[in-house]
Amino acid sequence: MLRAAGAFVVLHHTEARLGDPAARLAAVRAQIEETGTYRHTTAELVFGARVAWRNANRCIGRLYWNSLTVRDRRDVRDARGVAEESAQHLREATRGGRIRALLTVFAPDAPDRPAPRIWNEQLVRYAGYTRPDGGVTGDPRNTGLTDAALRCGWPGGPGTPFDVLPLLVQEAGAPPRWFALPGDAVLEVELTHPEHAWWTSLGLRWHAVPALSNMCLEIGGICYPTAPFNGWYMGTEIGARNLADTDRYDLLPAVAEGLGLDTGTDRTLWKDRALVELNRSVLHSFDRAGVTVTDHHTESRRFVTHLDREERKGRRVGADWSWIVPPISASATPVFHRTYETIDSDPAYVHHPDALERARGLGDF
Ligand code: ARG
Repeated sequence: MLRAAGAFVVLHHTEARLGDPAARLAAVRAQIEETGTYRHTTAELVFGARVAWRNANRCIGRLYWNSLTVRDRRDVRDARGVAEESAQHLREATRGGRIRALLTVFAPDAPDRPAPRIWNEQLVRYAGYTRPDGGVTGDPRNTGLTDAALRCGWPGGPGTPFDVLPLLVQEAGAPPRWFALPGDAVLEVELTHPEHAWWTSLGLRWHAVPALSNMCLEIGGICYPTAPFNGWYMGTEIGARNLADTDRYDLLPAVAEGLGLDTGTDRTLWKDRALVELNRSVLHSFDRAGVTVTDHHTESRRFVTHLDREERKGRRVGADWSWIVPPISASATPVFHRTYETIDSDPAYVHHPDALERARGLGDF
């Protein structure tokens, strides 16, 4: 802890040009010796959260790392408070569609007081109900969370493929409790297509804000396990993965059928053509709804700008090729045609052991 804290304080003083870090270093050391931990100043917290974004190997959207807004809610540690402030996070991030990058930080882990946890991997997730026939209504990715919510006493939603799950929040030492997200906190976009009027009969939609809520924000040796954060969507995340992956909504066959494509053989490239139309539909619909969304060509260019900018500042940028390169039209983007190395850093966003894994250890509740 002392080493990580020291390195972070020095980094902060250097980058923010705060002068000699000696006084702050001494104060942090004294706090750690007395209490086993230390408390970040607001400025340290904001700087740490931003640099953690800058250090995210998998994120293509890092050009704007320095514009992240931070809501300091370190005094909140009760389940209801976490749920209410998470809903408020969504409202302040969404702003009717003018999405901004936002992070809300709740109480950190302390030696005597473990932090509260959000079990959902994102604040907004769609339920996946396992049917008696073994199929899934909704998002198959979220069957585990859906089961957990039902076991917590959530009565279930109306049963559409796009039922918004409640938040599952766990206070230290207690079973998780469920909290429905208020409707005014969740903006969704119905998918239409720029040319095909029949598209609406597919009944597709997606939520406006991707807010990751199961990653731990680590800053200078302190772990904030509950620190939901969001940027805005890149269309391919929805159109080429969430709605298209065979283990997610698996919609390419339905889209291809609507388009009248020959699905009898792979060589008609019906999957490829369906993917393109699905992705056009996502960008078109978000644009029409006035909801911030980026496309993979723009974002790839921005990432290259980010790399150049960081290099000029003398900083190395870690990146993971398999995450940075977009899932469609990869070779038509500049990020495809080069290599990267991943770098482990502090501050960083890291995955703590999956909440659902821990839940299994809890048995019945
Ligand atoms: N890929 C995830 C999803 O489709 C979201 C990950 C974060 N994405 C972002 N644009 N900040 O829900």
